[in-house]
Amino acid sequence: MLGYYNKLSSEVYDLGKYIGLSFGDVEFYYDRLASCKGTILEPGVGTGRILIPLLEKGLKVEGFDVSADMLEICRNNCKKRGLNPKLVEAKMESFSLETKYEAIIVPTGTFLLLHERKDSIQALKNFYHHLANGGRLIIDTFLQTDLTKDNGSTRTWETKDGDMITLESKITEVDYINQHTISHNRYEKWRNGLLLQTELECFPLRWYGVEEFKMLLEQIGFEDIVVSADYQYGQYPTKANQTITFEAVVNKK
Ligand SMILES: C[S@@+](CC[C@H](N)C(=O)[O-])C[C@H]1O[C@@H](n2cnc3c(N)ncnc32)[C@H](O)[C@@H]1O
Repeated sequence: MLGYYNKLSSEVYDLGKYIGLSFGDVEFYYDRLASCKGTILEPGVGTGRILIPLLEKGLKVEGFDVSADMLEICRNNCKKRGLNPKLVEAKMESFSLETKYEAIIVPTGTFLLLHERKDSIQALKNFYHHLANGGRLIIDTFLQTDLTKDNGSTRTWETKDGDMITLESKITEVDYINQHTISHNRYEKWRNGLLLQTELECFPLRWYGVEEFKMLLEQIGFEDIVVSADYQYGQYPTKANQTITFEAVVNKK
Protein backbone atom coordinates (compact mmCIF):
# COMPACT_ATOMS: atom_id res chain seq x y z
CA MET A 1 0.00 0.00 0.00
CA LEU A 2 1.10 3.60 -0.65
CA GLY A 3 2.20 5.59 2.37
CA TYR A 4 0.63 8.67 3.92
CA TYR A 5 1.90 11.93 5.37
CA ASN A 6 4.75 12.16 2.88
CA LYS A 7 6.33 15.45 1.77
CA LEU A 8 3.40 17.37 0.22
CA SER A 9 0.79 15.91 2.52
CA SER A 10 2.87 16.99 5.55
CA GLU A 11 3.38 20.47 4.08
CA VAL A 12 -0.40 20.79 3.60
CA TYR A 13 -1.06 19.62 7.18
CA ASP A 14 1.26 22.31 8.53
CA LEU A 15 -0.35 24.96 6.29
CA GLY A 16 -3.96 24.04 6.97
CA LYS A 17 -3.65 22.90 10.57
CA TYR A 18 -0.91 25.31 11.65
CA ILE A 19 0.50 25.57 15.18
CA GLY A 20 -1.93 27.71 17.12
CA LEU A 21 -5.03 26.22 15.46
CA SER A 22 -7.33 24.35 17.82
CA PHE A 23 -10.55 22.46 17.22
CA GLY A 24 -11.24 22.68 20.93
CA ASP A 25 -8.78 19.80 21.32
CA VAL A 26 -5.77 21.84 22.50
CA GLU A 27 -7.73 23.37 25.41
CA PHE A 28 -9.45 20.07 26.26
CA TYR A 29 -6.21 18.07 26.33
CA TYR A 30 -4.49 20.76 28.39
CA ASP A 31 -7.36 20.78 30.91
CA ARG A 32 -7.26 17.00 31.23
CA LEU A 33 -3.44 16.94 31.57
CA ALA A 34 -2.82 20.07 33.65
CA SER A 35 -2.26 18.06 36.85
CA CYS A 36 0.42 15.79 35.28
CA LYS A 37 3.83 15.99 36.90
CA GLY A 38 5.30 13.08 34.96
CA THR A 39 5.96 12.61 31.25
CA ILE A 40 3.22 12.55 28.62
CA LEU A 41 3.58 10.75 25.28
CA GLU A 42 1.90 11.76 22.03
CA PRO A 43 2.03 8.98 19.42
CA GLY A 44 1.36 10.37 15.92
CA VAL A 45 2.68 13.75 17.05
CA GLY A 46 2.65 15.12 13.49
CA THR A 47 3.77 18.74 13.16
CA GLY A 48 3.48 19.39 16.90
CA ARG A 49 0.10 21.16 16.72
CA ILE A 50 -0.90 19.68 20.11
CA LEU A 51 2.57 18.97 21.55
CA ILE A 52 3.86 22.55 21.20
CA PRO A 53 1.10 24.37 23.13
CA LEU A 54 1.30 21.70 25.86
CA LEU A 55 5.07 22.19 26.15
CA GLU A 56 4.61 25.96 26.20
CA LYS A 57 2.21 25.54 29.14
CA GLY A 58 4.97 23.73 31.04
CA LEU A 59 3.97 20.09 30.58
CA LYS A 60 6.61 17.42 29.87
CA VAL A 61 5.65 15.92 26.52
CA GLU A 62 7.46 13.57 24.13
CA GLY A 63 6.28 12.39 20.74
CA PHE A 64 6.81 9.90 17.97
CA ASP A 65 5.55 9.52 14.44
CA VAL A 66 5.82 7.06 11.58
CA SER A 67 6.35 9.90 9.07
CA ALA A 68 9.89 11.31 8.74
CA ASP A 69 8.42 14.31 6.84
CA MET A 70 6.01 15.17 9.67
CA LEU A 71 8.80 14.79 12.23
CA GLU A 72 11.09 17.13 10.28
CA ILE A 73 8.36 19.82 10.30
CA CYS A 74 7.73 19.17 14.00
CA ARG A 75 11.43 19.58 14.85
CA ASN A 76 11.53 22.89 12.90
CA ASN A 77 8.34 24.12 14.56
CA CYS A 78 9.83 23.31 17.98
CA LYS A 79 13.22 24.86 17.17
CA LYS A 80 11.58 28.14 16.05
CA ARG A 81 10.00 28.33 19.52
CA GLY A 82 13.13 27.35 21.46
CA LEU A 83 11.73 23.92 22.35
CA ASN A 84 13.67 20.66 22.15
CA PRO A 85 11.40 17.73 23.09
CA LYS A 86 12.30 14.09 22.59
CA LEU A 87 10.91 13.10 19.16
CA VAL A 88 11.50 9.71 17.55
CA GLU A 89 10.40 7.81 14.47
CA ALA A 90 8.24 4.87 15.53
CA LYS A 91 4.91 3.17 14.97
CA MET A 92 2.01 2.98 17.43
CA GLU A 93 1.69 -0.76 16.89
CA SER A 94 5.36 -1.59 17.54
CA PHE A 95 7.06 1.21 19.52
CA SER A 96 9.16 0.31 22.51
CA LEU A 97 10.40 3.04 24.85
CA GLU A 98 12.05 2.94 28.28
CA THR A 99 9.73 5.43 30.00
CA LYS A 100 6.50 4.62 31.82
CA TYR A 101 4.24 7.55 31.01
CA GLU A 102 1.74 9.35 33.18
CA ALA A 103 -0.48 9.89 30.14
CA ILE A 104 -0.61 8.86 26.49
CA ILE A 105 -2.68 11.05 24.19
CA VAL A 106 -3.88 10.33 20.66
CA PRO A 107 -5.99 13.30 19.53
CA THR A 108 -7.49 14.13 16.10
CA GLY A 109 -8.62 10.63 15.13
CA THR A 110 -5.01 9.59 14.42
CA PHE A 111 -5.76 6.17 15.89
CA LEU A 112 -8.29 5.52 13.10
CA LEU A 113 -5.42 5.42 10.61
CA LEU A 114 -4.71 1.93 11.98
CA HIS A 115 -7.34 0.31 9.80
CA GLU A 116 -6.31 -3.31 10.43
CA ARG A 117 -7.91 -4.71 13.58
CA LYS A 118 -4.78 -6.57 14.67
CA ASP A 119 -2.66 -3.39 14.46
CA SER A 120 -5.12 -1.34 16.46
CA ILE A 121 -5.31 -3.97 19.20
CA GLN A 122 -1.52 -4.23 19.26
CA ALA A 123 -1.24 -0.43 19.56
CA LEU A 124 -3.73 -0.31 22.47
CA LYS A 125 -1.80 -3.08 24.26
CA ASN A 126 1.38 -1.14 23.64
CA PHE A 127 -0.15 2.03 25.12
CA TYR A 128 -1.26 0.04 28.18
CA HIS A 129 2.22 -1.42 28.60
CA HIS A 130 3.89 2.03 28.40
CA LEU A 131 1.62 3.64 31.02
CA ALA A 132 2.59 3.85 34.69
CA ASN A 133 0.17 2.57 37.29
CA GLY A 134 -2.62 5.15 37.53
CA GLY A 135 -1.65 6.53 34.12
CA ARG A 136 -4.28 7.58 31.59
CA LEU A 137 -4.89 7.04 27.89
CA ILE A 138 -6.86 9.85 26.21
CA ILE A 139 -7.82 9.08 22.65
CA ASP A 140 -10.17 10.59 20.01
CA THR A 141 -12.27 8.78 17.45
CA PHE A 142 -15.00 9.89 15.06
CA LEU A 143 -17.54 8.20 12.83
CA GLN A 144 -17.63 8.47 9.06
CA THR A 145 -20.93 9.99 8.02
CA ASP A 146 -20.42 9.96 4.23
CA LEU A 147 -19.34 6.65 2.73
CA THR A 148 -20.04 7.64 -0.89
CA LYS A 149 -17.42 6.14 -3.19
CA ASP A 150 -15.71 8.03 -6.01
CA ASN A 151 -17.27 11.32 -4.92
CA GLY A 152 -14.32 13.64 -5.37
CA SER A 153 -13.54 16.90 -3.61
CA THR A 154 -10.83 19.47 -4.37
CA ARG A 155 -9.11 21.83 -1.95
CA THR A 156 -6.32 24.36 -2.43
CA TRP A 157 -3.71 26.05 -0.26
CA GLU A 158 -1.20 28.81 -0.97
CA THR A 159 2.32 28.35 0.38
CA LYS A 160 4.35 31.24 1.81
CA ASP A 161 6.39 31.22 -1.44
CA GLY A 162 3.20 31.88 -3.43
CA ASP A 163 2.95 28.35 -4.86
CA MET A 164 -0.42 26.62 -4.95
CA ILE A 165 -1.02 23.11 -3.61
CA THR A 166 -4.16 21.30 -4.75
CA LEU A 167 -5.61 18.16 -3.19
CA GLU A 168 -8.12 15.92 -4.92
CA SER A 169 -9.62 13.29 -2.61
CA LYS A 170 -12.05 10.47 -3.10
CA ILE A 171 -13.05 7.32 -1.22
CA THR A 172 -12.06 4.37 -3.40
CA GLU A 173 -12.96 1.49 -1.08
CA VAL A 174 -15.55 0.96 1.65
CA ASP A 175 -15.18 -2.21 3.69
CA TYR A 176 -18.33 -2.48 5.85
CA ILE A 177 -17.32 -5.80 7.37
CA ASN A 178 -13.93 -4.63 8.57
CA GLN A 179 -15.17 -1.07 9.19
CA HIS A 180 -12.80 1.00 7.13
CA THR A 181 -12.51 3.18 4.06
CA ILE A 182 -9.54 3.79 1.80
CA SER A 183 -9.26 7.20 0.12
CA HIS A 184 -6.90 8.34 -2.59
CA ASN A 185 -5.47 11.80 -2.06
CA ARG A 186 -3.68 13.35 -5.02
CA TYR A 187 -1.53 16.36 -4.11
CA GLU A 188 -0.06 18.70 -6.74
CA LYS A 189 2.17 21.73 -6.22
CA TRP A 190 1.96 24.45 -8.88
CA ARG A 191 4.05 27.56 -9.66
CA ASN A 192 2.70 29.93 -12.33
CA GLY A 193 0.59 27.11 -13.78
CA LEU A 194 3.54 24.71 -14.01
CA LEU A 195 3.45 21.44 -12.05
CA LEU A 196 6.41 21.28 -9.64
CA GLN A 197 5.62 18.20 -7.57
CA THR A 198 2.95 15.55 -7.22
CA GLU A 199 2.19 12.86 -4.66
CA LEU A 200 -0.43 10.13 -4.29
CA GLU A 201 -1.50 9.16 -0.81
CA CYS A 202 -3.49 6.10 0.14
CA PHE A 203 -5.40 7.13 3.25
CA PRO A 204 -7.11 4.47 5.39
CA LEU A 205 -9.67 5.30 8.04
CA ARG A 206 -11.38 2.89 10.39
CA TRP A 207 -14.53 3.51 12.42
CA TYR A 208 -15.68 2.09 15.75
CA GLY A 209 -19.00 2.08 17.54
CA VAL A 210 -18.82 4.06 20.80
CA GLU A 211 -19.56 1.05 23.01
CA GLU A 212 -17.39 -1.19 20.80
CA PHE A 213 -14.35 1.00 21.45
CA LYS A 214 -15.13 1.19 25.16
CA MET A 215 -15.31 -2.62 25.34
CA LEU A 216 -12.05 -2.90 23.42
CA LEU A 217 -10.33 -0.69 26.00
CA GLU A 218 -11.84 -2.77 28.83
CA GLN A 219 -10.67 -5.98 27.15
CA ILE A 220 -7.10 -4.64 27.08
CA GLY A 221 -7.39 -3.93 30.83
CA PHE A 222 -8.22 -0.21 30.99
CA GLU A 223 -10.64 0.92 33.71
CA ASP A 224 -12.81 3.92 34.68
CA ILE A 225 -13.54 4.83 31.07
CA VAL A 226 -15.12 8.24 30.51
CA VAL A 227 -16.62 9.07 27.10
CA SER A 228 -16.87 12.70 25.97
CA ALA A 229 -18.31 14.37 22.87
CA ASP A 230 -16.94 17.45 21.11
CA TYR A 231 -14.50 18.00 23.98
CA GLN A 232 -17.23 18.37 26.62
CA TYR A 233 -15.92 16.14 29.39
CA GLY A 234 -18.31 13.33 30.33
CA GLN A 235 -21.01 14.28 27.80
CA TYR A 236 -21.98 11.12 25.94
CA PRO A 237 -22.23 11.60 22.13
CA THR A 238 -25.65 12.29 20.68
CA LYS A 239 -24.78 13.14 17.04
CA ALA A 240 -22.91 11.17 14.40
CA ASN A 241 -20.60 14.06 13.50
CA GLN A 242 -19.19 14.62 16.97
CA THR A 243 -15.60 13.97 18.00
CA ILE A 244 -15.62 11.19 20.58
CA THR A 245 -12.94 11.11 23.26
CA PHE A 246 -12.20 8.14 25.54
CA GLU A 247 -10.25 8.60 28.75
CA ALA A 248 -9.19 5.36 30.40
CA VAL A 249 -7.07 4.52 33.43
CA VAL A 250 -4.44 1.85 34.00
CA ASN A 251 -4.77 0.16 37.35
CA LYS A 252 -2.09 -2.53 37.66
CA LYS A 253 -2.96 -4.44 40.85
C1 LIG B 1 -3.93 13.61 11.71
S1 LIG B 1 -2.18 13.69 12.01
C2 LIG B 1 -2.25 14.29 13.68
C3 LIG B 1 -1.06 15.08 14.11
C4 LIG B 1 -1.17 15.70 15.49
N1 LIG B 1 -1.38 14.69 16.52
C5 LIG B 1 -2.28 16.73 15.56
O1 LIG B 1 -3.24 16.51 16.30
O2 LIG B 1 -2.22 17.73 14.86
C6 LIG B 1 -1.79 11.96 12.19
C7 LIG B 1 -0.33 11.66 12.43
O3 LIG B 1 -0.23 10.30 12.82
C8 LIG B 1 0.89 9.72 12.18
N2 LIG B 1 0.70 8.27 12.12
C9 LIG B 1 -0.16 7.58 11.35
N3 LIG B 1 -0.07 6.26 11.56
C10 LIG B 1 0.88 6.10 12.51
C11 LIG B 1 1.43 4.98 13.17
N4 LIG B 1 1.01 3.75 12.88
N5 LIG B 1 2.36 5.17 14.11
C12 LIG B 1 2.79 6.43 14.41
N6 LIG B 1 2.33 7.55 13.80
C13 LIG B 1 1.36 7.38 12.88
C14 LIG B 1 0.92 10.39 10.83
O4 LIG B 1 2.17 10.27 10.19
C15 LIG B 1 0.53 11.82 11.19
O5 LIG B 1 1.65 12.58 11.49
